[in-house]
Amino acid sequence: MTSQDDLFHPVIELPEPTRRARYDRLVGLDDTKLRLRKETALLADPHRLRAWAAAYHDGDVAALTLFEDRAPLFIFGGDVGSGKSALAESFGCDLADFLELPVYLYRLKLATRGSGLVGEMTSLIGDAFTHMHMMGKRVSDSHGARAVQILVVDEADALVQSREAQQMHHEDRAGVDAFLAGIDSLAGARLPVVVVLCTNRLATLDPAIMRRAAATFTFSRPSDEQRYAVLSQALDGLGIRPETVRKVVELTGPNGDQPGYTFSDLTQRLVPAAVFRAFPDRPVTDEDLLDLAEELEPTPVFTERRR
Ligand SMILES: Nc1ncnc2c1ncn2[C@@H]1O[C@H](COP(=O)(O)OP(=O)(O)O)[C@@H](O)[C@H]1O
Ligand SMILES: [Mg+2]
Repeated sequence: MTSQDDLFHPVIELPEPTRRARYDRLVGLDDTKLRLRKETALLADPHRLRAWAAAYHDGDVAALTLFEDRAPLFIFGGDVGSGKSALAESFGCDLADFLELPVYLYRLKLATRGSGLVGEMTSLIGDAFTHMHMMGKRVSDSHGARAVQILVVDEADALVQSREAQQMHHEDRAGVDAFLAGIDSLAGARLPVVVVLCTNRLATLDPAIMRRAAATFTFSRPSDEQRYAVLSQALDGLGIRPETVRKVVELTGPNGDQPGYTFSDLTQRLVPAAVFRAFPDRPVTDEDLLDLAEELEPTPVFTERRR
């Protein structure tokens, strides 16, 4: 079996200050954050649902059984630069606080193997799930979980695209099947293991995987209010006038055929570009931001390419 180091990036114990700050900085995702907390807390610790039913419904609640065989899979889909990876790799901080348990973040090493042989990818997936099982058993017993494990499968497109999208190449189906087998093996296993799959191509995701998901969250480009919130946060301390921020919000919004900026267009392009203009000789000015907002093109909308 593949060793842990070959399967995953270094495992991170949460909560951890950098990731907590990243989680707190994510704007406009409050509903998603809350739902994730509840869903994952119940998967990790089913006792809580029974305690709730006992407290509020005398315990006899048929709906409880509906939760028992749920697959611990969450799908994050949608536009590039909209916070999928950032949330997937940080919501464990919130979960850890909520459950008062350590949360271990496992990130599958897919990128390095992305174009690898199908067989190799398939055994990688199988081994990763076997590993999660083993570790899940280690941190739980009949009294409940002593820790929670989150497995993030990021940029999962190549792996889990539907057969249709792959032009019916049957051997390409192997990655999907291995993933499904892994998810099914976790469903009903009562292990404190949660899987998050991130993809920019929700439409080409295999329907069998979509069906398994406890919840699918779609991430999109920021609204005016969200751009305002992100910009105010990112520009804090630079002395930019509020009316300039509002003007930048306007300039970075959708315009005719042109889409608006993504979250990361603001945080990773616009604001850093303003700093680079000024550094090292002068302060950032309002004009820097206004010029750049006119100049920079938003990231093109990701079109579903069906090969
Ligand atoms: N909702 C958000 N609020 C604030 N910043 C965001 C948000 N979404 C994305 N960002 C910024 O964009 C960066 C890239 O986001 P990322 O999670 O990598 O996007 P993707 O959806 O492509 O995985 C983040 O590190 C963060 O700086
Ligand atoms: Mg990402």
